[in-house]
Amino acid sequence: MKFQAEIEKRKTFGIISHPDAGKTTLTEKLLLFGGAIQTAGAVKSNKIKKSATSDFMEIEKQRGISVATSVMSFEYRDKIVNILDTPGHKDFAEDTYRTLTAVDSVILVIDCVKGVEAQTERLMEVCRMRNTPVIVFINKMDRDGKNPFDLLEEIEEKLGIQTQPLTWPINMGSDFKGVYNLFNKSIIAFGKNQKATENDLVPMPDLSVPELDTMIGEQDANQLREDGELLMGVYEDFDKEVYLSGQLAPVFFGSAVNNFGIKDMLDTFVEIAPNPRPRMTDQREVLPSEDKFSGFVFKIHANIDPKHRDRLAFLRVCSGRFERNKFYQNIRADKKLRFNNPYAFLASDKEIIDEAFPGDVVGLYDSGTFKIGDTLTEGEEMNYVGIPSFSPELFKELINNDPMKSKQLDKGIRQLTDEGVAQMFTQHGGNRKIVGCVGELQFEVIQYRLLGEYGAKCSFQHMPYFKACWIKGDQDKINAFIKFKSSNIVEDKEGNLVYLAESEWYLNTERQNNPDIEFYITSDFKHKL
Ligand code: G4P
Repeated sequence: MKFQAEIEKRKTFGIISHPDAGKTTLTEKLLLFGGAIQTAGAVKSNKIKKSATSDFMEIEKQRGISVATSVMSFEYRDKIVNILDTPGHKDFAEDTYRTLTAVDSVILVIDCVKGVEAQTERLMEVCRMRNTPVIVFINKMDRDGKNPFDLLEEIEEKLGIQTQPLTWPINMGSDFKGVYNLFNKSIIAFGKNQKATENDLVPMPDLSVPELDTMIGEQDANQLREDGELLMGVYEDFDKEVYLSGQLAPVFFGSAVNNFGIKDMLDTFVEIAPNPRPRMTDQREVLPSEDKFSGFVFKIHANIDPKHRDRLAFLRVCSGRFERNKFYQNIRADKKLRFNNPYAFLASDKEIIDEAFPGDVVGLYDSGTFKIGDTLTEGEEMNYVGIPSFSPELFKELINNDPMKSKQLDKGIRQLTDEGVAQMFTQHGGNRKIVGCVGELQFEVIQYRLLGEYGAKCSFQHMPYFKACWIKGDQDKINAFIKFKSSNIVEDKEGNLVYLAESEWYLNTERQNNPDIEFYITSDFKHKL
């Protein structure tokens, strides 16, 4: 097949949600539609079970299982759909943020009972920074949830994105009757106590006909007529370009566990979701259609079994054709690398591949060369940008408990933070090491791995910070600020200056007192506070 046609076939996206909204269930149903799996339950959940939250070994084991399902590909209506799964567990949110740098669009799952939840807001913030196109799936309509109009308003308000429903629910909970497709003006009935097949699409161009009352009952028919009138009045024709610019989210209602409402969404998704898009490097914009291969590593998965030290690096192909056994340049490490067993991910399976195209994710075995964000090219000196670090939420000082092993500890913490397990900061003008994580569990994982893999014993001492801000500005002003706030100033691994704030109040005060200093929420100095 022609190279350009390969690119146009690909749709690479991520599913995001607050834990328990139904992300795993939806993923599985999408794979069923794509024929990538045959039965429900075949996909090992990438979600970390609630019962395991106090047992991080169990969590690591589950993460291990989930490697195979962190990328899943299937074909649907002549398109190759690549789903990049994201851990729902809050403690691994940083993993999710980075995965979002490798997708071209997202599907956001919202539980109709709970509405917009905390994790959803944070994930959407990352999407907004990148203008990632979003499709919303409002799930669990078989439960008594919030009023659909209220839900749309809540999404717009809390997530800062316009919405436009493309399907509309007919009642909900035990009286859920199905959805009205506003696009092709038809009703798809929800069959009680049965898995809806979605083949029973009933055209209903005119909602005033009496057949509607017979079909869904007079009360629901009247409600739908009323809702329909309101919707027609509010919304203009769906504008794909506004969706592609990340400003407008089409919304679908359904029930993932009942496999209902998903096909409408998937059909729309393959039609409107973006193909692999151009991406920025520090030198220039790179088009997927360029001849020469390039890509970047957005995730590294370590094997916690000390007998198998290999790590798996996940590479997103951005341009050209990736080929097995060909030499590529790791720009940061200034090293030529060749991969003789690159993997593609197919549902719950891995398969060695000979080539991959823009939009694809390739798994590369690595013995410690890669760092998150590394760019591979055919030789051109450029680095993909936009894989920044976000502020951690917990900060602890790393204490060496065995002075004989300080070299091992240094090496270990450097490698683990290169993998993206946590972020490391060093006291400005000093040697104290401060580790920043999103969740407590990560500290446990680090402690365990430092001992197991590097023989280094450490402990952590709590530090009272809540946020890291990367700072920039006039050198004299910065110097004065450093002097004044010396105990709060650290450097990240690249030597950038970072201010650690104890609270929102402190942060706001310092911003007000230092109008000439810029405070950034990401390490790439792109997103100002
Ligand atoms: P997550 O990956 O976003 O964390 O959510 P997941 O798919 O695991 O779903 C969370 C729970 O919500 C599951 O129940 C799942 O069965 C249920 N669920 C998903 N979609 C729907 C839906 O449309 N309607 C209803 N009523 N429930 C739904 P669980 O009891 O936690 O797990 P399980 O034992 O059923 O797997």
